[in-house]
Amino acid sequence: MKHCIILLLMIGVSTCKNIYPRDVNYQPDQVHISFGDKTNDIVATWSTFNDTASMVLYGVDSPERQAEGASVLFVDGGKAKRRQWIHRATMRDLNFDTRYVYQVGSEDGWSRQFSFKTPPAGEDWVVRIAIYGDMGLNGSMSLPFLKRDVEQGKYDLILHVGDFAYDMNEQEGRVGDDFMNLLQPLAAAVPYMTCPGNHESAYNFSHYSSRFTMPGPESNLYYSFDVGPIHFVSISTEVYYFTEYGIKLMVEQYEWLKRDLTVANMDINRRKRPWIILFGHRPMYCSNSDDIDCSVEYTRTGFLGLFGMEPLLKEFGVDLVVWAHEHSYERTWPLYDSVVYNGSYAAPYVNPRAPVHLVTGSAGCREGRDHFRRNPFKWSAFHSQDYGYTKFKAFNKTHINIEQISVDLGGQVIDEFWLVKNKELSFNQL
Ligand SMILES: *[C@@H]1O[C@H](CO)[C@@H](O)[C@H](O)[C@H]1NC(C)=O
Ligand SMILES: *[C@@H]1O[C@H](CO)[C@@H](O)[C@H](O)[C@H]1NC(C)=O
Ligand SMILES: *[C@@H]1O[C@H](CO)[C@@H](O)[C@H](O)[C@H]1NC(C)=O
Ligand SMILES: *[C@@H]1O[C@H](CO)[C@@H](O)[C@H](O)[C@H]1NC(C)=O
Ligand SMILES: *[C@@H]1O[C@H](CO)[C@@H](O)[C@H](O)[C@H]1NC(C)=O
Ligand SMILES: [Fe+2]
Repeated sequence: MKHCIILLLMIGVSTCKNIYPRDVNYQPDQVHISFGDKTNDIVATWSTFNDTASMVLYGVDSPERQAEGASVLFVDGGKAKRRQWIHRATMRDLNFDTRYVYQVGSEDGWSRQFSFKTPPAGEDWVVRIAIYGDMGLNGSMSLPFLKRDVEQGKYDLILHVGDFAYDMNEQEGRVGDDFMNLLQPLAAAVPYMTCPGNHESAYNFSHYSSRFTMPGPESNLYYSFDVGPIHFVSISTEVYYFTEYGIKLMVEQYEWLKRDLTVANMDINRRKRPWIILFGHRPMYCSNSDDIDCSVEYTRTGFLGLFGMEPLLKEFGVDLVVWAHEHSYERTWPLYDSVVYNGSYAAPYVNPRAPVHLVTGSAGCREGRDHFRRNPFKWSAFHSQDYGYTKFKAFNKTHINIEQISVDLGGQVIDEFWLVKNKELSFNQL
């Protein structure tokens, strides 16, 4: 800037742009948004290949306000050590239930104008979410359906339950860049909330850690956030499997999870937000036949018997647990320690006596579908190999509706259930 002013004085040219022609390397790429520490703080994240300022212009009718963020250099772990600058800027204290337009970039190059709607304030509104895992750059069968839904304003947020791009680190990280651009129509329009999967493990999960911005003081590997009547908890199941990176995170996450659930389950909080929903990549329960995934479940049983998380689900009354990893869909009956605890035989999901598990990893990727055992377990209520995604609606503090959409069948609903909780529950009698 200083040089620019000096040069302007010296030679009197009309704009700085003539002096410093900026190229495509300064153009914002891979724009996406997520919730900040509250649902009316929206963080924009994007990349440029050369370093420049990190600005977001935003407003209700036109982008008349601006906020400045910061950038960090991200170097891919491959041979070429490919570089990009990842920018973050937060739009804070926005009005609730309001549509905003925004542009990211700097004087060296601005993105096109995007838009999002902030959610309503408080707890009493219908929370609408698309949920899925295992979406690749190639074969992302669900993407056209999700794009259509997002264009029509059908979701308040998206949960991507691990496994991105296949794999973000491939081709010196170009697969990651292309995938983030592929996601842009979804992720620049709706807060895109994530957890890591096994396909993010390269270079100690650095592509995942660097590219996504999630709330909370810890990291984007595990965090929690509140939306309407729900407390969401996002965990890394991968700390139980990629122990070559150290077991410190596994221990820290377990301790954090206990603290987080303790607070969420305190009377004052639970009355406000009765629903606690946890999501992570690898299922605690699944009945697929593809490999040992459905028999070696460290997150449930613990690593060498230690830090198993299922007892915490029971202790703190986690209502719903959402997984992916298997390229299929499966719903369980209310379940603890492999035993079914229906609310009642006639209405298993009305005041269930244990957490309900869902596996939704069929968004589509180059690895295709995963198959099921010939004899599913007793706790398995429904399963399907169709490509698709989950439509979640929390109507209020007592009623959640869940639908599974098959894209094979052109968007048809292949599974539907109501999770109902209209009295104070404790799972401690299990
Ligand atoms: C801009 O980025 C390109 C591509 O990464 C790199 O080759 C070039 O050296 C960078 N230029 C500056 C001025 O940083
Ligand atoms: C996707 O498919 C194209 C064409 O078949 C191929 O060139 C490319 O390498 C694939 N990318 C990934 C990440 O598998
Ligand atoms: C991997 O990353 C985590 C934090 O993201 C860090 O705690 C750990 O020490 C790293 N492990 C290695 C081997 O670098
Ligand atoms: C739970 O409810 C379902 C649906 O009624 C039923 O098929 C299943 O057998 C029940 N399980 C137990 C253990 O009661
Ligand atoms: C919650 O939503 C369900 C489904 O729309 C509805 O039947 C029920 O009456 C609602 N409960 C309250 C307290 O609003
Ligand atoms: Fe996976």
